[in-house]
Amino acid sequence: MTADRTSAPTGPNTTASAITAKGLRKSYGDKLVLDGIDLDVAEGTVFGLLGPNGAGKTTVVTILSTLVSPDPGSGPVCVGGHDLAADPQGVRAAIGVTGQFSAVDGLITGEENMLLMADLHHLPRRAGRRVAAELLERFDLVEAAKKPVSTYSGGMKRRLDIAMTLVGDPRIIFLDEPTTGLDPRSRHTMWQIIRELVAGGVTVFLTTQYLEEADELADRIAVLNNRRIAAQGTAEELKRLVPGGHVRLRFADPSGYRSAARALREVTRDDDALALRIPSDGSQRELRAVLDRLDAAGVEADELTVHTPDLDDVFFALTATGTTTATATQAHSPNPPHQPEEAVR
Ligand SMILES: Nc1ncnc2c1ncn2[C@@H]1O[C@H](COP(=O)(O)OP(=O)(O)O)[C@@H](O)[C@H]1O
Ligand SMILES: [Mg+2]
Repeated sequence: MTADRTSAPTGPNTTASAITAKGLRKSYGDKLVLDGIDLDVAEGTVFGLLGPNGAGKTTVVTILSTLVSPDPGSGPVCVGGHDLAADPQGVRAAIGVTGQFSAVDGLITGEENMLLMADLHHLPRRAGRRVAAELLERFDLVEAAKKPVSTYSGGMKRRLDIAMTLVGDPRIIFLDEPTTGLDPRSRHTMWQIIRELVAGGVTVFLTTQYLEEADELADRIAVLNNRRIAAQGTAEELKRLVPGGHVRLRFADPSGYRSAARALREVTRDDDALALRIPSDGSQRELRAVLDRLDAAGVEADELTVHTPDLDDVFFALTATGTTTATATQAHSPNPPHQPEEAVR
């Protein structure tokens, strides 16, 4: 049996939480932006907050990083073991934030930006110089270090941005659309940087508009839409939420193929390839039902493949207007309608 991709089991409560939030609400004036967001980000993982422009991703980041307050009536928020309301200083000490719009000063050099950051963190002069030099080296900015940042490419600015974030050695890092506007090569460099951060035990809270990015990097993904989390889970769990998933059975001999076609319901036949396609969410339960029917009919498939729809399907289905909340862990929740791409762009 083969599957498109396998995902490691990710049981909740197996690790400590780096970030938890309950019923997070935020309005700007009379405009409600977040209407009860629950989050739970495990330590040492990448959490991807995915959503179209204006969905509220930056608002979530600014709240979790203490830059703006949630509305009264929001539930408790805990970041790095510190309660956001009671101990915002503790939260600030535990986190690093790389904003959607670069915080680096273009008029001074990369190195000067780094030293400024070291000063902000009250590092002694020598330690500051050492940390700055190490990080400039690590992010391949040694050559550029003495040049004004205004001469840097977009990718270099983002790398400097992250290097500056790391000066304080944070255990939790917020990256707000770290690759938006970057060319493919710089984007891949950024992905590599993020993977290395996580390998070093850092928790990364990432926002992105790119499904591919969330799929590549995030252990868990939450899709933000219409002021709420429309779905949450691993990429694989989310893919099971939308139509398009199916099981494909291939047979070597025509008689087995015909017996199986008779034994199964809702099959689409491909007589040339001796292959059958059965709609399925890819869950163990549905797979077992298919296998039981084959067993009962006394046939054995020569090849069984589970196809899950890709994250694009999920995103467009979930961010189409008027969809209801779905949870990836609710295995048999109704499928939201699949909308064409134009509906959300
Ligand atoms: N400071 C603010 N004042 C008023 N409205 C805001 C402010 N910040 C964000 N908004 C509004 O909140 C909504 C969500 O914005 P934002 O969090 O920036 O979304 P995203 O980062 O997903 O693009 C948008 O409609 C935006 O116009
Ligand atoms: Mg934003």
